[in-house]
Amino acid sequence: MGINVNEKERYFSITTRNTEYQLKADRFGVLKHLWYGGKTGCDMEYLLEYPDVGFSGAIYEADNDRTYSLDTMPLEYPCGGVGDFRISAIEVTHADGSTALDLRYKGYCVKDGKYDIPGLPAVHAEKTKAQTFEITLCDTATDTEVILRYGVLEELDIITRSAEIRNNGDSPIFLKKAASFSLDVPYGNWEWIHFQGRHTLERLPERAPLIHGIQESSNIRGASSHQQNPSFIICSPDCGERYGKCYGAFLVYSGSFQTQIELDQLNQTRAVMGINPRLFGWKLNVGESFHTPEAVMTYSGSGFSKLSHNFHKVIRENICRGKYKLAERPVLINNWEATYFDFDANKIQTIAENAAALGADMLVLDDGWFGKRDSDCSGLGDWFVNEKKLPGGLGTLVEKVKALGMKFGLWFEPEMVSEDSELYRVHPDWAIKIPDRKPTRGRYQLVLDMSRKDVRDYLYDSIAAILKSAEISYIKWDANRSICDWYSGELSAERQDELPHRYILGLYELFERLNTDFPNVLFEGCSGGGGRFDAGMLYYCPQIWCSDDTDAFERAKIQYGTSFIYPISTIGSHVSVVPNHQTGRITPIETRAVTAMAGSFGYELDLGTLSDEEKNAVSEQIKRFKKYDPLIHGGRYYRLSNPTTENIALWEYASEDMSEVLIHGMVFRTEPNMKCIAIKAVLDPECKYKISGSTEVYTGAALMNGGILLPKTWGDYCPIEIHLIKQNIE
Ligand code: DGJ
Repeated sequence: MGINVNEKERYFSITTRNTEYQLKADRFGVLKHLWYGGKTGCDMEYLLEYPDVGFSGAIYEADNDRTYSLDTMPLEYPCGGVGDFRISAIEVTHADGSTALDLRYKGYCVKDGKYDIPGLPAVHAEKTKAQTFEITLCDTATDTEVILRYGVLEELDIITRSAEIRNNGDSPIFLKKAASFSLDVPYGNWEWIHFQGRHTLERLPERAPLIHGIQESSNIRGASSHQQNPSFIICSPDCGERYGKCYGAFLVYSGSFQTQIELDQLNQTRAVMGINPRLFGWKLNVGESFHTPEAVMTYSGSGFSKLSHNFHKVIRENICRGKYKLAERPVLINNWEATYFDFDANKIQTIAENAAALGADMLVLDDGWFGKRDSDCSGLGDWFVNEKKLPGGLGTLVEKVKALGMKFGLWFEPEMVSEDSELYRVHPDWAIKIPDRKPTRGRYQLVLDMSRKDVRDYLYDSIAAILKSAEISYIKWDANRSICDWYSGELSAERQDELPHRYILGLYELFERLNTDFPNVLFEGCSGGGGRFDAGMLYYCPQIWCSDDTDAFERAKIQYGTSFIYPISTIGSHVSVVPNHQTGRITPIETRAVTAMAGSFGYELDLGTLSDEEKNAVSEQIKRFKKYDPLIHGGRYYRLSNPTTENIALWEYASEDMSEVLIHGMVFRTEPNMKCIAIKAVLDPECKYKISGSTEVYTGAALMNGGILLPKTWGDYCPIEIHLIKQNIE
């Protein structure tokens, strides 16, 4: 296992527990991609074909060999302008205006431990648990170097990718595109899945066969976005949850991204992913380097569940950081849907008292506590307490909440500014807008230029002052609009297209400072719900508010899609009031609870308005969530149904050793005289299981193949909870 090198052949193979990745620099120094997939124990170069395809040019050194064409072979980091007419991973404009880049092999190196990327979030690992493989390519005409980096986490079947582009030449170059990776899959018939949606309906999986040409999932909103997610899967047509071949990748990046998948003239598949070149440019002066964001890849030969387990583990353990990454998360009570902007200290105090009585751990005071913020038209940027609403300041309220035995959390939207704010009146130039043009408003607000140090310093000082003023244990970091009108007063004209990436680098720098200086604060990411649900944010915030849609029926679909890539502990999810504020739908409180338990659990309503029966249910739910927390957040997550097409949402949490299993879900519509539903759980077929509440014992094989009969349902959105314990350990 590990990284194996045959120096003479310039052949490299990376093996993980179940996968293998092969590369070779050929006689011309062209770096070919030979294989990614299950273990083969064989040099896979034999699969390469050298067809004579008209119009696909041959490199000069190949003389008149018409079968040697970059346009037809699988390449590791394809570049533009020298005969490969498919999508490229890198595009450059040189000082003379030419755009060709001809990258050839220069050298390699293997290192213990996992590389870091300056200024960017990346997978981290103990030195003994990861290796780094580097391959250096060079365009000799201009001395432009590209160092491809691979992080290998053998046990997790994870390979990470990032590229460094170095200008060793004698004049500046302009990067127009710098993808994190390219993956050529020359053999096979593939489909792809990407995760699409909109505000309040994020990350729904969309699966389609590949068609010839380029298919794309991307955005130019300045954030990873509600509409498309920086992640994708390529799978065999027969691939399902526990059968079939699939490749997955996600970016550790929160800005605009682009995934392109091309099915070429020879039915070969190429996937390229990275910063969206439509919103990117970078001037690289002599001696400078540019580092791409990291991409994380895995391969599963046994369906989507295994792919998700690999991703869940690497995100939870090797991307999330800090005190809370593996710790039990506090059960929150958030006031947003209970009050919106209409609150004062007394109202919040009452919400806290009701929640404390039922067992909640933390009160989160959402939008509206600062500046002149009685609606979403004003106040953003003025991060000082509104004493009209909270007399005596935050300290007084925090002490009262603490006296109830709860912690206190606070909402911020640091990156934004209202025109009606003290900050904007003093620093109108801090907002992103183009001189002599009226800026586009989103939710009545403008966006601060996070590439500016003075802006970041102001935000750091404001947030740090609040955090020091009272015992604040949590921050919800919101961002409620897409970004346009890109222009920074700090950048020269030729560098304006660097701003979207510089914005994200600035955001990460601010997060890093706050994470470092306030290690006890739990950060929850948010962007109008799940508008920035990505692994970049998860490096700084181990949980993210998944969607502004709190309706259990819709959430089941959103969380289903989210779970393909992201672990349950990262998914912020709350029980809210019915009729639901986004859909008007009425669902039972138990259904809302099991849905919210598939995340970092909490409530977002005034619990005082519930009936006694509902209050008892809430108190019992909180106890139950705490009991099952190690299984829910620490166990393996299985999708047992597809709620976007079936009449049932069903998922399972299983301990690593399969000794304990919890199944949750809901039946959407109950019909009269409905045949009983048999739930096919994932269990150890060799063992016997007892279903809680019953005395019967069944073999795992019976419950997996025959199923567990669900009692007759009554009403719509009927909740499901089944708890199974391996018999010999109960
Ligand atoms: C959008 C968030 O997703 C909501 O939960 C809430 O915090 C509002 N913003 C507040 O403005």
